Amino acid sequence: MLKTLTVSLNERSYPITIGENTLNSFEYFKLKSGQRVLIATNETIAPLYLSALTAMLEKNGIKVDNVIVPDGEQYKTMETWNTILSTLLKNNHTRNTVLIALGGGVIGDVAGFAAACYQRGIKFIQVPTTLLSQVDSSVGGKTAINHPLGKNMIGAFYQPQSVVINLNCLKTLPQRELSAGLAEVIKYGIILDPDFFSWLENNIDALLALEPQAMSYCIYHCCKLKAEVVAADETEQDMRAILNLGHTYGHAIEAELGYGNWLHGEAVAVGMVMATQAAKLLGHFSNSDIERIKSLLLKAKLPISKPQQMTAQAYIPHMLRDKKVLSGKLRLVLPTKIGHVEVVDNVSQDLVLESIELTR
Ligand code: NAD
Ligand code: GLY
Repeated sequence: MLKTLTVSLNERSYPITIGENTLNSFEYFKLKSGQRVLIATNETIAPLYLSALTAMLEKNGIKVDNVIVPDGEQYKTMETWNTILSTLLKNNHTRNTVLIALGGGVIGDVAGFAAACYQRGIKFIQVPTTLLSQVDSSVGGKTAINHPLGKNMIGAFYQPQSVVINLNCLKTLPQRELSAGLAEVIKYGIILDPDFFSWLENNIDALLALEPQAMSYCIYHCCKLKAEVVAADETEQDMRAILNLGHTYGHAIEAELGYGNWLHGEAVAVGMVMATQAAKLLGHFSNSDIERIKSLLLKAKLPISKPQQMTAQAYIPHMLRDKKVLSGKLRLVLPTKIGHVEVVDNVSQDLVLESIELTR
């Protein structure tokens, strides 16, 4: 069941290891006996996985510290980033320390950004514990914190030295979080791979039941697709933007409703429906493909209707702060068919408003 692949970025290349008991195996971390490590995690994950990981590392000659931060998207902030940096400083960590991010995308993003900044950059390892982080956020080196005015607005591209994915961590993940991860999984099918989308239609129940073979294949396949995109366009000059399908709408929902109220994956699910509606309005996308996408999202227990408490107009200021905006004009990733997307420039606000209204 053990699977490995490489994110190919010349001297910054790194392995991804996917398996059922990977946290027991020192070799996947690419550490050397005698090194110091700071594990950054949160108060939910620490009681589940911190002591076993610490014991395994210590048994292999690593000196381990930890920092435990509050849990939640609302803590993906400068304060949390500062807490991690202050722990590194107070404990006299040097440039040789390796930071391990043990947790979901929030921990991975904020700890990764701390690693990018501490003494101008120390090595770090991603140990993603949610489905979303295993298929998406731990791979590719995007690190960030939120600002009240916009999601992921402060950050850096900073690649880890290794990604260690433990399938068993998913057994303790709440159902709602598993579904949120499936939104990013479904995204890969829509943007890049029609056969994978069909595979998901046939295997969604196996994934919801955490069937190990289906889950292992799914995570491997998503990481492979993401690794290929990142290798082609590490810093999102061009094609990496396709990974943002639904995110421009979704980030607006997250920011407007308060970080943590709608999960990132839930907001992306609805955002992908909005993007398909925009594509249809432009004459680029068929009704039957919209129905297939909505049906798969529903089976994955994800929302497909806009949040009732948010007007269409309320999306616009958030969407205008999106990182893809060029010269004040909205740019959206829109599908043309299942398995293919394009980046469309100069999307009018009226079209965006209509696509939101249609997502009821
Ligand atoms: P998360 O990190 O908030 O984790 C979700 C919840 O699950 C949290 O309460 C967490 O404590 C808990 N949890 C984590 N692992 C667990 C486990 N094994 N068992 C029980 N509970 C567990 O959310 P997420 O969905 O993993 O990540 C979302 C974040 O990722 C967002 O901030 C988003 O912006 C970011 N993201 C980043 C990238 C990127 O490329 N860097 C890509 C996609 C998303
Ligand atoms: N999740 C978007 C990216 O990694 O580019």
